[in-house]
Amino acid sequence: EIYRKNKVYEINREAALFYYKNLLDKKNGGLNYLLKRGLEIQTIKKFGLGYAHEDWEQLNKYLLCKGYNQNEIFMAGLVSEQKNKNGYYDRFRNRVMFPIINTTGKVIAFGGRVLGDFQPKYLNSPETPAFNKGNNLFGLNFAKNEVTQKHQIIVVEGYMDVISLYQNGIKNVTASLGTALTKNQANLLKRYAGEVVIAYDTDTAGQAATLRGLDVLREVGCKVRVLRLSQGKDPDEFVMKKGKVAFLEEVDNALSLIDYKIMLLKKENDLATTEGSVKFVKSITKILKGLTSPVEMDAYIKKIALESRISIEAIKSEIYGNNKYDR
Ligand code: CTP
Ligand code: MN
Ligand code: MN
Ligand code: MN
Ligand code: MN
Repeated sequence: EIYRKNKVYEINREAALFYYKNLLDKKNGGLNYLLKRGLEIQTIKKFGLGYAHEDWEQLNKYLLCKGYNQNEIFMAGLVSEQKNKNGYYDRFRNRVMFPIINTTGKVIAFGGRVLGDFQPKYLNSPETPAFNKGNNLFGLNFAKNEVTQKHQIIVVEGYMDVISLYQNGIKNVTASLGTALTKNQANLLKRYAGEVVIAYDTDTAGQAATLRGLDVLREVGCKVRVLRLSQGKDPDEFVMKKGKVAFLEEVDNALSLIDYKIMLLKKENDLATTEGSVKFVKSITKILKGLTSPVEMDAYIKKIALESRISIEAIKSEIYGNNKYDR
């Protein structure tokens, strides 16, 4: 199994170099696409971005020439088998290529994006001996060295979010690759960062993934905050338009887990009505029960009392149980 894994790393590295050289060939359109999106050559090099040609067997031929056998190339997920089993064709065609590199510097997989508005927008490597999507994060190979004194890491959804932020000087960034954050990814983050800031897309899918991500991170014992962009659909769009300082301000304004949930519950419940404030307090006290710090507990109880106009004593007894009403 280790042999197979190393073979995939090796073939992927060859493929990444091949894609990179293709990108620099201007007639292919890949470079132009990335430049139009605001990327600089230096950034493109840093992330080893590439281009997969529209031909059906360019990469396969190249790798066979390099001495890899067909089974190995297939095992790396770089080719698919023809339906009639008569041969293989390149999996990635006419796409800009994003190599996914793990924390030890191995190319474990690729993501490929179409140059226009076609579907599927992104195509990723399949599961291989070297790659399991839920066990890895894109860009962590760079981010792990950039976690500052605050030991903070920003988690975004996509490849371009990581790369644009990086180019704009925000380098403690990694992407969960569109999936809801898995427990393994959360544990990986915890290894490198004391605090995780979730900065997912502003659409409903992104916000739903935020809620799930929060729970997963909390389960593994990570400190979490939530960044909700005030503008733009994702961090890439935001930082390209507004720049580094504006994005860092958004990071500063990121809400704590509980403040984020309070904010959501305030939207769900009309605190001007009795029913609304009762529901609000009942929901939020369920979350507060998980708090271990008495200082935080006290601060939040006061805040909720103020918001709901329900007494501190009543909120406390909701949290601690009626028999402790007089504590
Ligand atoms: N994704 C994927 N397959 C898709 C769509 C998305 O694997 N068909 C993953 C990719 O890692 C992508 C991330 O989910 O980067 C976020 O998806 P989305 O927000 O739709 O894409 P963006 O990264 O914003 O892509 P772009 O800015 O290039 O349009
Ligand atoms: Mn061509
Ligand atoms: Mn999205
Ligand atoms: Mn985007
Ligand atoms: Mn996006």
